[in-house]
Amino acid sequence: MAAILVTGGCGFIGRHVAEELLDHGYEVRILDALIDQVHGDGDSVNPEAVDVIRGDVRDKPVVEKALDGVDGVIHLAAEVGVGQSMYEIARYVGGNDLGTAVLLEAMIGRPIRRIVVASSMSVYGEGRYRTEDGHRLELIRRRSESVRAGQWNPRGPKGEALTPVATDEEKPVDLASIYALTKYAQEKQVLIFGEAYNVEAVALRLFNVFGAGQALSNPYTGVLANFASRLANGQPPMIFEDGQQRRDFVHVRDVARAFRLALEKPNASGHVINIGSGQPYTIAQVAALLADAMGVPDLRPDIMNKARSGDIRNCFADISKARELLSFEPAHRLENSLRPFAEWVRNTGAIDRGAEMKRQLEERGLVS
Ligand SMILES: NC(=O)c1ccc[n+]([C@@H]2O[C@H](COP(=O)([O-])OP(=O)(O)OC[C@H]3O[C@@H](n4cnc5c(N)ncnc54)[C@H](O)[C@@H]3O)[C@@H](O)[C@H]2O)c1
Repeated sequence: MAAILVTGGCGFIGRHVAEELLDHGYEVRILDALIDQVHGDGDSVNPEAVDVIRGDVRDKPVVEKALDGVDGVIHLAAEVGVGQSMYEIARYVGGNDLGTAVLLEAMIGRPIRRIVVASSMSVYGEGRYRTEDGHRLELIRRRSESVRAGQWNPRGPKGEALTPVATDEEKPVDLASIYALTKYAQEKQVLIFGEAYNVEAVALRLFNVFGAGQALSNPYTGVLANFASRLANGQPPMIFEDGQQRRDFVHVRDVARAFRLALEKPNASGHVINIGSGQPYTIAQVAALLADAMGVPDLRPDIMNKARSGDIRNCFADISKARELLSFEPAHRLENSLRPFAEWVRNTGAIDRGAEMKRQLEERGLVS
């Protein structure tokens, strides 16, 4: 039986990954610092069969201990939050980049076959666009003056309107937040390390992950969790810009399966692979579907017509590569998953910290 270390395994995705691995006969060890922002509500219950070590990935002796007897690593431990990364810069760069560096150094000389790291769609910046005549563009970035003036959609080089299309892994990265920068650095560190030390390495670029177990009271991450916390407390979801921005929501169980497949599939080694649902939704659409599922269809979202610094307009996944290399097929569509999600939110209870998040960003001039 293979033994796998899951860093950050007490988090939202990590708990599902641990369960997926156990179900498929793996031994699972977790290294997790149980950071307050995520675990303040004490929601870190892992199955008994899992060996949990509480510790920080930046603490080399603890990491050495966690790696003993391990055949593979899934590296999820990270500070997660685009907006917050823009002012807690040292915290994000420290936890994510230095954390990965210490983990990799501790792996040198050990018989570890493969490492899979969680990267993020945020590394793309804006997703792919094409022009009216069907030409696919490489890099598009919104100008902050235009965004401040309420022109939400990016425009082509000649000021022309563009159509968003699915984003594939060949799209050049464009880092627009400190969080994105750290995710890209994590991804690159792992791939460079794999090449140099002959360790199989895979980076999964996750799109918006949702499902039971999301940190409901952490307003810095997870748009569905934020909306659910607002709705559960009788408050309208707060939507930046006009609500027509598009994202790709992938169920956490699909993501957990993708991590297992990325450990197992021989051809995945050395690759960066998108993990999404392949289905775009506007944020306003998602808010309405969720309000419906939570039984408060009349709680219309508060469309703020303000933009958050570092946010992009559209990004949804082309998952052809995941299909080809991992035989990955999403099994849980958003529409069919929101009722069970709403049920879980009702049973869990959520503190709404949305207003606090908005205030933190506004105080620093990161909302305009
Ligand atoms: N949730 C998403 O939509 C999403 C999207 C793209 C990428 N990701 C990536 O997936 C991974 C898991 O995300 P999640 O949503 O489960 O987040 P999460 O915050 O629920 O889990 C992260 C876990 O890592 C732990 N952790 C943080 N810093 C640590 C450190 N220095 N040492 C040890 N443990 C530490 C936390 O205690 C937490 O349990 C992250 O790398 C994140 O960047 C998530």
